[in-house]
Amino acid sequence: MKLDDKLKNYSLDGYLPMHMPGHKRNVEFLGHELPYDKDITEIYDFDDLHHPEGILKEIGNQAKRIYQSGHSFLLVNGSTCGILAGIRSAVSFGDQVLVARGCHKSVYHAIELNHLDAVYLPSHIDSYGIDRGILVEDVVDALNENPDIRLVILTSPTYEGIISPISDIVRVAHERGVPVLVDEAHGAHLSFMRQLCSYEALKSGADIVVQSLHKTLPALTQTALLHIQGDLVKQEEVARELSVFETSSPSYILMDSISCCFDLIEEKGKDLFSQYEENLAWFYEQAKYFHHLEVFGSKIDSSVVYDYGKIVILTKNTNLSGEDLSRILREKYKIEVEMSSIYYVIAMSSICDTKESFERLFSALQEFDSTLCDCENKSIDYFSSLPRKKMNIAEAVDSKRGVFYNIKDVDGFISQEYLWVYPPGIPFVVPGEVIDQKIIHQLEEYQKAGIEVRSTYDKFPDVKVINNK
Ligand SMILES: Cc1ncc(COP(=O)(O)O)c(C=O)c1O
Repeated sequence: MKLDDKLKNYSLDGYLPMHMPGHKRNVEFLGHELPYDKDITEIYDFDDLHHPEGILKEIGNQAKRIYQSGHSFLLVNGSTCGILAGIRSAVSFGDQVLVARGCHKSVYHAIELNHLDAVYLPSHIDSYGIDRGILVEDVVDALNENPDIRLVILTSPTYEGIISPISDIVRVAHERGVPVLVDEAHGAHLSFMRQLCSYEALKSGADIVVQSLHKTLPALTQTALLHIQGDLVKQEEVARELSVFETSSPSYILMDSISCCFDLIEEKGKDLFSQYEENLAWFYEQAKYFHHLEVFGSKIDSSVVYDYGKIVILTKNTNLSGEDLSRILREKYKIEVEMSSIYYVIAMSSICDTKESFERLFSALQEFDSTLCDCENKSIDYFSSLPRKKMNIAEAVDSKRGVFYNIKDVDGFISQEYLWVYPPGIPFVVPGEVIDQKIIHQLEEYQKAGIEVRSTYDKFPDVKVINNK
């Protein structure tokens, strides 16, 4: 029986819940707006996510079948817990790891918790501020220069949809016996897209792949998957680490949502994705006729693989910024986009967008486009930079000599916190790195251009540095 039916039947069966959760499924008292009636704990015959032997094991097997993994774990704490557990299971404390600089903060937190020595792969930021993904040459150079690297950690696709050449990266890593973890939080749908399925991380040979179902598929927020394959990573070690990083009270509502998402994909996925791809093709064809706005796909050479489900609309050759476009779409057209920056916005799409949704987005953009003038918005030149590393993250974070100074006064100090430029959200400075005049100047330039600088302690322009003078 499906988990959804089992939960429905159980809620109608009249059992008195003398167990958690505290709402006791009392919908007469609480109302039906939230799904209290299906929100149970690990009671008899409903299995246990941390030791799946019954219905939850079946859902895990369904994930394994759909994604063709070696083993798949269901996650209810988002990709975040999968990344923390996946990295922990593949390293020993103090190991050296190769990390794409543009990784999500959960990767940095794993580096900190495991006292890892991170070697960073540079971000290649283009003139729009978009990270163009990882170059195989950078990986080869880093692996040659650092023979002690024990794990490669990458994000693909990126937030903007850029897909890195994972199969080439896996090949060079595996030649040295090094496993590869891919944060595919934005790519749980790639397997079902005709033109993109061969680029997804599992098919490309990655050893650990973490995907957020909730980002690009119809599943509730926090649902995710951790897949493994091959023999460089041990299933029992990943399970052990998930018992550390994932809640001991997994939500049946979330697990039900995972199960329903899989059923939908298995039963109707082919048609839904083919309709989705048709809608996207229609949208991109229409977008060719914009006079001033551009969509990302038209701006890159055909060797770059990207997820065109992320509709990245470029405003660089207009008199308005991405933030202006985002505000106008919200206020005038009631369209809320995922993210906006100086030069672009990201509109995220999925199989749940109807043809009408694409038409509505297109009509709004077309109308807006006709009000624009051609002129190059040159608020800022993006640049990639990797500051000099003086300490590992954990060592810096652990220091008891942290003090807050204004950014203008920290030339030569080691940072005790992260500084991010938003967007694109790539850590500009990581704890343990030296903030020098060049970095200070770059941050000033970003701020002048209206790019937000965020810091761990949220006190920027005051920055927590290690008082090493
Ligand atoms: C690239 C990337 N990785 C991981 C995560 C974490 O995913 P989750 O929110 O499912 O924990 C995010 C979230 O935004 C992300 O953008």
